[in-house]
Formats: sequence, C-alpha cells, structure tokens
Amino acid sequence: MAISTGLLSVADLTADDIRHLISDAIRSKQRGSSAFLNGKVLALVFEKPSLRTRVSFDVAMWQLGGHAVYLSPDEIGLGKREKISDVARTLSRFVDGIVARTFSHPTLEKLAEYSRVPVINGLSDYEHPCQALGDLLTIHEKRGVLKGLRLAFVGDGNNVARSLLMAASLVGMDFCIASPPGYALEEATLHRAEGFAAKSGARISATSDHRLAVRDADIVYTDVWISMGQEAEAGDRHQAFASYQVDTELLSLAKEGAIFMHPLPAHHGEEVVEGLLDHPQSVVYDQAENRLHIQKAILLKVLGGQVA
Ligand code: CP
Ligand code: NVA
Repeated sequence: MAISTGLLSVADLTADDIRHLISDAIRSKQRGSSAFLNGKVLALVFEKPSLRTRVSFDVAMWQLGGHAVYLSPDEIGLGKREKISDVARTLSRFVDGIVARTFSHPTLEKLAEYSRVPVINGLSDYEHPCQALGDLLTIHEKRGVLKGLRLAFVGDGNNVARSLLMAASLVGMDFCIASPPGYALEEATLHRAEGFAAKSGARISATSDHRLAVRDADIVYTDVWISMGQEAEAGDRHQAFASYQVDTELLSLAKEGAIFMHPLPAHHGEEVVEGLLDHPQSVVYDQAENRLHIQKAILLKVLGGQVA
C-alpha cells in the first residue's frame, strides 16, 4: 500500500518512505509551513479519548491552510448507530482524508476499504504508526542517526511497541523488547520485523529481563501497562508489570546519556517512577511536539502537497 492511499500500518511503508517523511518533517519544522493544503478537509473520527493525536492533526491542518472536523465517539457510533461501510462512503463525499482512532484494527481496515479518500491510523489496538514515525523523528533529532542505535522497549507488547518495532527494523535500528510472560509481542510480528531487519541490518530481540534489555541502549522507551480498552484487565496487568517500572536506576544501566521516551499519556508511579518525565535524559515533550511535525509530512503525502 503506497502512502498516498493512506497509512494503516508501519509495515505498509518502505525504509525510503520513512526517511523521506523524516526529512520532510525536519524541513517543515525548520522553515515553518505554508498553505499547501488550502481548501482540504480532514475528518478526525475518534472512538477513544486523545490529547496529542487530536490536537496535533487539527493544528497541522490549520497551519497547512486546511481544516479539520472532529467527530467524537458519541457522534458517529461507528458500527453501532451506522454501519462502518456507510460511514466511510458518506464521509468520503465530504472530506479529503480521514484520521481514525478505533478500538479494533479491523474497524479501521473496514473504514479504509469502503472509503474513497485515504484513511490514516490515529491509533488502533494493533498499531500506532503516527507515534512511531514521530518517535523516529525525535530520535533522529537527538542522535543525528537512526541506523545502528539500540532501542530498549520496557513493557507491554502493545500497539505502540508493535509500530515502533516495525519502524526500527525497517530503518536498521536494533530493537529489544522486555515484557513479562504473557504480554510479549506475538511471534508473527517479531517474524515480520525480522524480515525487515534482514535487509536493514537491525537486530531484533525479545526477553522478559528488562535489565538485560536496557544494557547498552541508546533509547529507553516505555508505555502504559493498561492501554485504552483494557481497563477490565487492570488488576492482572498491575500484578504482571509491577517489576517493570522504569526508574533512574534502570535508566542508569543504559548507555551514558541514553534518552528516555514515552508516547504519553503516562501513569506516573506505574510504568514510570514519579518525576522521570522531568529527568534531564527525558525527551518526552519534544517527542509529543514532533507528532505535529511528522503528521504534517504525512498529511502532505496523503492529501497531496509538497514541502518547499
Ligand atoms: N500519544 C498519543 O497518541 O496521545 P493521545 O492519546 O493523547 O493522542
Ligand atoms: N498504548 C496506549 C497508547 C496511548 C497513546 C493505548 O493504546 O492506550
């Protein structure tokens, strides 16, 4: 799937696509944006709450001369008030593109199947591609390269981890994930990433030993233990992840000066010790800002338009 037709999964991209998106984002961040998307309208269809994704897409459209229409969970009722296929077919008559945040990935795929306009994944239970691409932009900004770095992901083998693994393995960044038993990334995803890694030279590994994972890491990354939609599993998850908290002691086992990343929102005192987001090695707010810049690059590719 070429990016001009939408973005549901990082696995739809090539390493070159990722490199181009990052360089476009750097350029537009440095020079500011122009009204490349004058007159274009983007629908934001959200089944779950959002701060970063919603605001950054809305602001990106505004700064590029276009407009965004936000549709909250209660308004559309995807598959409840109306069939997903009918929502897709109707919305595509009004707008030029759709960003959707859904509970289930198949909902997103169905939306894309019936939509005449490109659909961008604004997070599903399976992937969060815009997050992973923004994260690579941040890492590139902080380290100057991507290939050859080592990223340690401590925590759940979730949507964020899955997209980041794909992105890292495409661009040649080593990726080690440490998850408690029962919460690891599935074999099929690891296998897919290994296919990308065979070309790029990335090394992929999975363990339950978080101390081992962070050793020699350039980036220590974590995400919530309980993702949106998993609230009923909170008790079991708190128990399983209790020893996987990222604190200054764990961070000190990584390379000197390693950066700490988190997609946010964070549950302070759970996956991250209180105060870690303000640690000098933390880049989480730059990381959040970069969602805006990478998404401008994505929108220009998907909706048509060039960074001067
Ligand atoms: N990281 C991220 O996607 O944040 P939101 O859930 O606030 O959009
Ligand atoms: N894994 C988290 C990411 C939030 C941006 C979730 O899905 O809730």
